[in-house]
Amino acid sequence: MPSTLTGKTLIVTGAGSGIGRATARLLAAEGAVVFATDRNGESLAETAAGASGSLSTLVHDVTEQRDWDRLFQLVGERSEALHGLVNNAGIMLAGAFDQSSIEDLRLQYRINVEGPYMGMIGALPLMRRGIRANGGTASIVNVSSIYGQIAGSRYATYSASKGAVLMLGKAAAVELAPEGIRVNSVHPGPTMTQLGATHSPPLDEQGRPMAPKQILAMWQQRIPMRRLGLADEVAATIAFLLSDAASYINGAEIVVDGAYSAC
Ligand SMILES: NC(=O)c1ccc[n+]([C@@H]2O[C@H](COP(=O)([O-])OP(=O)(O)OC[C@H]3O[C@@H](n4cnc5c(N)ncnc54)[C@H](O)[C@@H]3O)[C@@H](O)[C@H]2O)c1
Repeated sequence: MPSTLTGKTLIVTGAGSGIGRATARLLAAEGAVVFATDRNGESLAETAAGASGSLSTLVHDVTEQRDWDRLFQLVGERSEALHGLVNNAGIMLAGAFDQSSIEDLRLQYRINVEGPYMGMIGALPLMRRGIRANGGTASIVNVSSIYGQIAGSRYATYSASKGAVLMLGKAAAVELAPEGIRVNSVHPGPTMTQLGATHSPPLDEQGRPMAPKQILAMWQQRIPMRRLGLADEVAATIAFLLSDAASYINGAEIVVDGAYSAC
């Protein structure tokens, strides 16, 4: 069966690494016309080098309104319509709540909440243009986290930002549904990417920083499926939400976490 993504114009942010890279490559392989963006041009070029199909790149910082304007200008010149937007770019700061700062909270809000907000608002004119011209629908996917739904120790400011983007999307879904624009959020559990690479590690029972192997073993113990998720597994869920197979899924929270948050 041909993919319902064939020929659709789709944007993926944070496509230079991890979940965004896997998503951009999967969508392009499925026949979509993909605009992959990231603030890191070098890693974005690697994404493009490993992709098959139609994948254009643009260096784009999701906190900058002028970068969003430039992106939508480019997409509007090259495509008649915008069928989907994946707000994936994000950062995660970890650490004890009483050691966190208002700057931590603000930084994560700028990238994890204001970025998707500017993306959703800015995408509407092109999405509406396509629906007016050809009928059909459009789909927005916000990549939140299970920590947007449940609390994680050492992730208070991150959780706040991921809870905010969840509710931003839900509220937008209610208002945009009548015109055929769906908004859903994906909530990955711990996934093998670079996201936590720069963190100060958690401490063991003796108060010593845990080694990467110990951290991995800790997560394997906590996750019922006994392994971390793969970026490809999250990408497949995002691709499904963008496709016509998900035509009646709207305002939903889709968890991809190996049952971590079920227990
Ligand atoms: N990996 C996990 O365990 C996990 C779990 C839950 C949710 N998530 C979410 O998944 C999304 C993708 O994360 P990942 O795990 O692939 O991490 P990653 O660090 O591998 O990739 C994130 C990408 O976002 C880009 N980025 C960061 N700030 C940006 C900005 N201001 N403008 C443009 N690009 C920017 C980075 O350059 C990077 O390429 C994030 O929103 C993250 O919060 C990840």
